[in-house]
Amino acid sequence: MLYSAIQAMKNRILVTGAAGFIGSNLIDTLLKSGDEVLGIDNFDVYYKRTIKESNIEDAKQHKQFHFQEGDIRNTSFLDDSFEQFNPDLVVHLAAKAGVRPSIVDPHGYYDVNVIGTLNLLEMMRKHNIKKLIFASSSSVYGNNSKVPFSETDVVDNPISPYAASKKAGELLCHTYHHLYNFDIYCLRFFTVYGPRQRPDLAIHKFTKALYGNDSIPFYGDGTTKRDYTHIDDIIQGITNSINLINHSGGYHIFNLGFGCVYECSYCFLQGYTNSPGIILPANIPHGVQAKQRFKMTLTMIRE
Ligand SMILES: NC(=O)c1ccc[n+]([C@@H]2O[C@H](COP(=O)([O-])OP(=O)(O)OC[C@H]3O[C@@H](n4cnc5c(N)ncnc54)[C@H](O)[C@@H]3O)[C@@H](O)[C@H]2O)c1
Repeated sequence: MLYSAIQAMKNRILVTGAAGFIGSNLIDTLLKSGDEVLGIDNFDVYYKRTIKESNIEDAKQHKQFHFQEGDIRNTSFLDDSFEQFNPDLVVHLAAKAGVRPSIVDPHGYYDVNVIGTLNLLEMMRKHNIKKLIFASSSSVYGNNSKVPFSETDVVDNPISPYAASKKAGELLCHTYHHLYNFDIYCLRFFTVYGPRQRPDLAIHKFTKALYGNDSIPFYGDGTTKRDYTHIDDIIQGITNSINLINHSGGYHIFNLGFGCVYECSYCFLQGYTNSPGIILPANIPHGVQAKQRFKMTLTMIRE
């Protein structure tokens, strides 16, 4: 079914990870569409609380927005939230994000991303809420060399605890779809950028370094290739998913990306070489003209 054929309806939506990059942008859009939203977030210490507080400052002025500070690992907190708000749909974005730190803290990542997701699914079962949008990640593709990445590819070989935790989340989602007939869409986001971007992500770091006149922190030689997706496209993918799940349900996995991959260094140069007053640091790798484009499998979500 085409998205354009679907009438949007007003929802009561519980958003986990509400104060984060994607969560706060999503909430602003949902409120504009007339949805009522309960956001929950524990202000995880991965990056500054003040950044997250400012992300939801505008939303907090809105009468359709409610916020509760709490942890998805705390089942009595979740129970109270579900009891009080009685959502008809959950968007689960809360997670320990970031690939590299997960290698240092695998238990922490497993605890939040897997046990936290299980807690949420169990709470939905208890309160008879059967619609979930789950934030998965392109990292589940690991070192797969076949391009374009497709939702039907085998993703049994994750290469970081973060990727394994996202794959485990997808598996739990499928289990609850099978056992309890939940409607669940797992969205695999491909590196997201834009306003409020997490401070640990490359484009944020590059910008900060440039304005501070510092060197650019490339990992490797800058030839790493990624699909960079603008936050507006991700938000549109999530809202389209919400509308679609309300009408057709089921269990689906969707890639949510821009559709082209760029070398890290190319992406950097595209953004900044034409900016007046910007002097390129000395450590920019060579070969930055190289750009490879692969068409990624984009699904009906984009429609
Ligand atoms: N940003 C990306 O490029 C990207 C790519 C792929 C997948 N994702 C996924 O999208 C989701 C959102 O990512 P983001 O970039 O907005 O990250 P983010 O860190 O900005 O937001 C995540 C939010 O979850 C909260 N949180 C963490 N642990 C929690 C817990 N135990 N209880 C309650 N809240 C908790 C954090 O405080 C944070 O505000 C995550 O699930 C992430 O894994 C993001």
